[in-house]
Amino acid sequence: MTTLNLLPNKAENHIYNLNNYQDGVTDFSWQEVEKQFSWYNSEKVNMAHECIDRHVDDGYGDKVALHYLNDEEEIQFTFSQLKEKTDHLATILKTNGVKKGDIVFIFFPKNPDCYIAMMAAVKIGAVAGPLFEAFMEEAIRDRIADCNGRYLITDSELVKRVPKGDLPTLKKIFVTAEPEQCAVGEISLNELLRLTKTERNVTEWLDLDDRLNIHYTSGSTGKPKGIIHAHQAMIQQYQTGKWVLDIKEDDVYWCTAHPGWVTGTVYAIFAPWLNRATIVLFGGRFDAESWFSTIERTGVTVWYSAPTAFRMLKAEGDAILQRYDLTSLRHLLSVGEPLNPEVIHWGIEKLGQRIHDTWWMTETGAQLIVNLPSEVIKPGSMGRAFPGIEVAILDDEGTKQPSGQIGHLAIKAPWPAIMREVWKNKEKYDSYFRFGEWYLSGDLAYQDEDGYVFFQGRSDDMINSSGERIGPFEVESKLIEHEAVAEAGVIGKPDPVRGEIVKAFIVLKKGYENSPLLIKEIREFVRYKLSAHAAPREIEVLDELPKTKISGKILRRELKALEEERQLQTGVSV
Ligand code: PRX
Repeated sequence: MTTLNLLPNKAENHIYNLNNYQDGVTDFSWQEVEKQFSWYNSEKVNMAHECIDRHVDDGYGDKVALHYLNDEEEIQFTFSQLKEKTDHLATILKTNGVKKGDIVFIFFPKNPDCYIAMMAAVKIGAVAGPLFEAFMEEAIRDRIADCNGRYLITDSELVKRVPKGDLPTLKKIFVTAEPEQCAVGEISLNELLRLTKTERNVTEWLDLDDRLNIHYTSGSTGKPKGIIHAHQAMIQQYQTGKWVLDIKEDDVYWCTAHPGWVTGTVYAIFAPWLNRATIVLFGGRFDAESWFSTIERTGVTVWYSAPTAFRMLKAEGDAILQRYDLTSLRHLLSVGEPLNPEVIHWGIEKLGQRIHDTWWMTETGAQLIVNLPSEVIKPGSMGRAFPGIEVAILDDEGTKQPSGQIGHLAIKAPWPAIMREVWKNKEKYDSYFRFGEWYLSGDLAYQDEDGYVFFQGRSDDMINSSGERIGPFEVESKLIEHEAVAEAGVIGKPDPVRGEIVKAFIVLKKGYENSPLLIKEIREFVRYKLSAHAAPREIEVLDELPKTKISGKILRRELKALEEERQLQTGVSV
């Protein structure tokens, strides 16, 4: 294995928060990390307090906590201002009946309202349920209905997608709009903000075990499942923010993910604020010019994104790089899908920066396998176990495999940020622990002699497109609701930019003719009913789908093999 020039940039004499992996591993204990929190002495636990209020208490009230910009506007909030705003909204939620443990769904684009709503809900001990901004009716219904969600905070545009009539448990919908803009059953937040006086000491003090947030995530079967994390996750989220993101006092930190995905909550909000960083929030879609200009304008120093985004930036060519001053960047990280060695080389050559891969999952609540900034990178590897974490590769019987052997990527449970439950689905929760204390990730991987882990794929049919997790079942269910579709099988088709794209194989009902117009209509149907990111980019009509002989279940694996075979024949490499 070549390491090329992938050594850490010691020439700068930079001192990382963890300057040596071995130092981190030796005598590591999560109990030591606990001493960093104000609750260690006060016994008053609350994530929102540790992220915002304690920094005000500690004298950092004037530090910029959030630097928001989009293509038209730019606004900054200090920690003091965020404390005020989250206290105010927390008071409103509380006086409107939201109690500790209630799930509050939050449905916004990437903007300050989204972050403030998340923290206000957490402040009063509610369980924050961020929804991805591209979700349409069906995706929203599935999630809110699954946990009988009672509260939703959203804006006047996105509220139009909420199927209120199908959600009888949804009692209160708060909308950032004036009363006259609100439909029946919606509550004007603008008015409540004017009328409500902030309650002093609105924070609800909690236990480490109390629920913090719920993220719905897809697997290869069934509808999305609600993964619950507890406040205790902050222990690991803080420490990975310190050692892996390497956040220091002067850092300006940007994570490009939306809070509807776990990265957008844990590493775009919690971990950086637990470490008192200034967070950059860009509100807009991916666009190379806007992204580079965000880095230049705000002076981003630490940048966390995904391989698809890096590949898209790379595809823009070199000329664009000359137009922006990106010299503020000092530490780059990636997550969500395999990071190709070519992209790492691009980072080094064109940005003068190594890109540090990290591995974790919604269920794990924080990074578990990482490339620390002070260590050698091996291209193609996701890195090594974070201190305090034990990784193993297991065979089908749960036996540990030697280095070099591919098997199931497993982690010794528990660790502080691990999910606490799958909402009302113990069977699903238990399925991760088939081998007792080993949490089974569903990923296949091998480890080398130095402990570096190399991702080899999934052991199930889950699709990963642009780092976003998509369940084939959800897409198939939507496809067969279309009047022309009799059957559907959905797979991830390897793609050089997005890692995988969603591809659907369908059988048409009698009387329907395959035509580009019909295919477009079917695609749009999924896009506008479910969500843009899950709509198949390719739809192919077959006469029949491969199925198991006995149960008649569609064999996605055969569809996938068919697709891979074709790519081999046409010489397309991914
Ligand atoms: O297959 C792995 C892939 O993303 C899955 C988890 O998806 P999600 O819960 O949406 O969380 C994504 C970000 C935390 C994993 O089971 N994955 C995540 N990171 C990597 C990865 N695949 C390859 N390399 C990674 N670094």
